Amino acid sequence: MAFLRNAWYCAGWTDELSDKPIGRTFLGEPVVMYRKEDGAAVAIGGRCPHRFAPLAMGKVKDGCIECPYHGLRFDQTGACSHNPHGDGAIPKAARVPAYPMVERYDVLWIWMGESSLANPDAIPDVHEIASQDGWRVIRGHLPVRAHYELITDNLMDLSHVPYLHPFLTGSGPLPPDFQEIRELKQDGNTVYSMHTNKNMPMSPLFQMLWNGEAPSVADMRAHMRWDAPSNLMLDVGMYPSNGPVSAGPSIPTAHLLTPETENSTHYFWAQARDTKRDSAELDAILKAGISDVFQNEDEKMIVACAELMGTNDLFSLKPVLLPGDGPAIRTRRVLSAMIDKEQAAGSVAA
Ligand code: FES
Ligand SMILES: [Fe+2]
Repeated sequence: MAFLRNAWYCAGWTDELSDKPIGRTFLGEPVVMYRKEDGAAVAIGGRCPHRFAPLAMGKVKDGCIECPYHGLRFDQTGACSHNPHGDGAIPKAARVPAYPMVERYDVLWIWMGESSLANPDAIPDVHEIASQDGWRVIRGHLPVRAHYELITDNLMDLSHVPYLHPFLTGSGPLPPDFQEIRELKQDGNTVYSMHTNKNMPMSPLFQMLWNGEAPSVADMRAHMRWDAPSNLMLDVGMYPSNGPVSAGPSIPTAHLLTPETENSTHYFWAQARDTKRDSAELDAILKAGISDVFQNEDEKMIVACAELMGTNDLFSLKPVLLPGDGPAIRTRRVLSAMIDKEQAAGSVAA
């Protein structure tokens, strides 16, 4: 199955990048990323075209990366800029791909397609997770052994939450006036999966975040926005029943999924919060909680499903569809149409 190439993907966090190269695989291609001496972020192909050494094991010199095996150097355009051997002539084929990279909202955004089409205006708005906005932000990066669309499905259909994540919803009986409202919206190529639970028992998570004494029953919103190919932003919070959203804690959370290969995904997540902003102790609890919930509940389930599916072509298995599947199915259709269009246009080379 083809990837959407002309799109912005999360390659990591801006504070990860230094003059120590980082090697990661995106869309099946090895990439090396580093910061030049002037601070500029660079992303180029991570495999030396001589004997295929990983450039991430090399060193940054004069804004270029020096191959750790025989010393060819490559600049930010991917061109070989220095050959220490023979007369120093640069072999014609000595180059690696170069990938546009933009730093925004504390995210390193990489463009894996045709570089002339890379428009920073198309970067999805995830300003909530930018630390300069004054909210407390925690971040993580989890490797997942599954196709990225299975993770999108999981995030776009939050009807799994009460079954898989009692920590997030609580496990007590539902009050008689409990009400669940689900809405699917689409705006261009952006899809929204909007969940609102009215009169829901207070979740252990939000109890911890609440300023002062939390009510035993409250309303909860979980509004997920999906931007192609796999960047999701969840507006989530609890607030007193029928009260204003601002009367309870909010924890907007970005889920930025970047395919590593057909069967593995980089799952970058970041969560901001507007309460208890100075608590490092809460940072640690939330960070461990998110990793634990995802790795031991979501990922475990997603990987187990992927193994039983035996294919990444979901529709070939003719899945039974439930009402909660609407948003996930819509994102799959939007993405598939975008990939078809891109393939037909032929503008996919890095
Ligand atoms: S493998 Fe890179 S210079 Fe030889
Ligand atoms: Fe989940």
